[in-house]
Amino acid sequence: MSDVFRRQSGPFREGDRVQLTGPKGRLNTVTLEAGGAFHTHRGVLSHDLIIGQPDASVVVSTNDIEYLAMRPLLTDFVMSMPRGAAIIYPKDAAQIIGQADIFPGAHVVEAGVGSGALSLWLLRAIGPSGKLNSFERREEFSEIAQSNVQAFLGAKPDNWSVTVGDLQEQLPASVEPGSVDRVVLDMLAPWECIEECAEALTPGGVLLCYIATVTQLSRVAEAIRSTELFTEPDSSETMVRGWHVEGLAVRPDHRMVAHTGFLMTARRLAPGSVLPELKRRASKSDFKDEDVEAWTPGALGDRNSSAKRLRKTAREAKKAADAATTDR
Ligand SMILES: C[S@@+](CC[C@H](N)C(=O)[O-])C[C@H]1O[C@@H](n2cnc3c(N)ncnc32)[C@H](O)[C@@H]1O
Repeated sequence: MSDVFRRQSGPFREGDRVQLTGPKGRLNTVTLEAGGAFHTHRGVLSHDLIIGQPDASVVVSTNDIEYLAMRPLLTDFVMSMPRGAAIIYPKDAAQIIGQADIFPGAHVVEAGVGSGALSLWLLRAIGPSGKLNSFERREEFSEIAQSNVQAFLGAKPDNWSVTVGDLQEQLPASVEPGSVDRVVLDMLAPWECIEECAEALTPGGVLLCYIATVTQLSRVAEAIRSTELFTEPDSSETMVRGWHVEGLAVRPDHRMVAHTGFLMTARRLAPGSVLPELKRRASKSDFKDEDVEAWTPGALGDRNSSAKRLRKTAREAKKAADAATTDR
C-alpha cells in the first residue's frame, strides 16, 4: 500500500496543497513546488519558505505581509474541488460513515462516483487495509472523481477501483456474491439496483442510500421491503446549524445549509431468513404511470451537464491532480 494516507500531517512537502489565509481572511490554495512562488499585488511568497515548515505556520511575503499556511482539511478540499455532479456535503458524509458503520478494513461498494467527494471520505474510513469498489455510469464523471482523489491524496490508492458502467450490470461481474460489507448508493434511481446489492452483500451487511427527495425516499423504501431480503429501512436527514460565539454575542448563525438529502439504511438478512412479522406494515403502494413519470430524471430536476462543460471540468481536475502528484 502506498503512503497516500500519510500525507495529511507533518511538515509541508513539495506537492502538498496549502491554503494561504491572507489579510482580510482571503483564501488562496497553492501546490508547493521547489523554487515556486505565489504572486499577489502585495508581493511574492516563495514556496521554499513554506516547504519544511510545520502545518499552520505563519509565513511572510516580500512586502512583509503575513499569511497563515495550512493544509486543507478534507472538508475544505471537497467543498472547493472541481465538480461534475453534485457532491455529498461533509455533514452527510460524516453521518454516512457512522450510519453505514464504515470500518477500517471494510470492503465497500459505492455508486455513483460523481465528483469523488464521498469516495474520499470512504477511502479514509476504510484505511489502507480496506477495499473500495466504485461504479459510475458516466466516463467524464469517473475521470473528474479520479483526478480529485489523486489531487487530494497525491496518488490513486491501490485499494480503490473505479468501474465505468451501470452498477446493476457491473456489480455482479465485479464482486463475489455475499462478499461486500457495505454498499453506499448516491444516484437518482437506487431502487433499480437493490437486487444486485442484496446479492453482493454479506449477511448483516449494510445498504445505505443517499436520496434527495421524498418521492425517491418512498420509492426506495418500498423497493427494499419488496425484496424481503433486508431489515426494515431506517430513514433520517441531518441538519447542522453553526453558532456565532463571540463575547456576549452567542447565537445561531443566520444562515445554514438546510436540506441536502435523506439517508436510508437497511441490513442484509441471512440467506433463507424471513423478517419476523412487522408490527406496522406500510400500506401497499401501487405506482401508476403518472407516479413513475414524476420520478424520471427530468421531473426530478436532474440537470444534464453538457459534454463541453464536463470536458472543461475534467481538464481542470486533471491539471490539479498532475500538480499534486510527485514521485514520492
Ligand atoms: C450525485 S452524483 C454522486 C456524487 C458523489 N457521491 C460525490 O459525493 O461526489 C450521482 C452519480 O450517480 C451516477 N449514476 C446514476 N445511476 C447510476 C447507476 N445505475 N450506476 C452507476 N452510476 C450511476 C450519475 O452518473 C452521477 O454521476
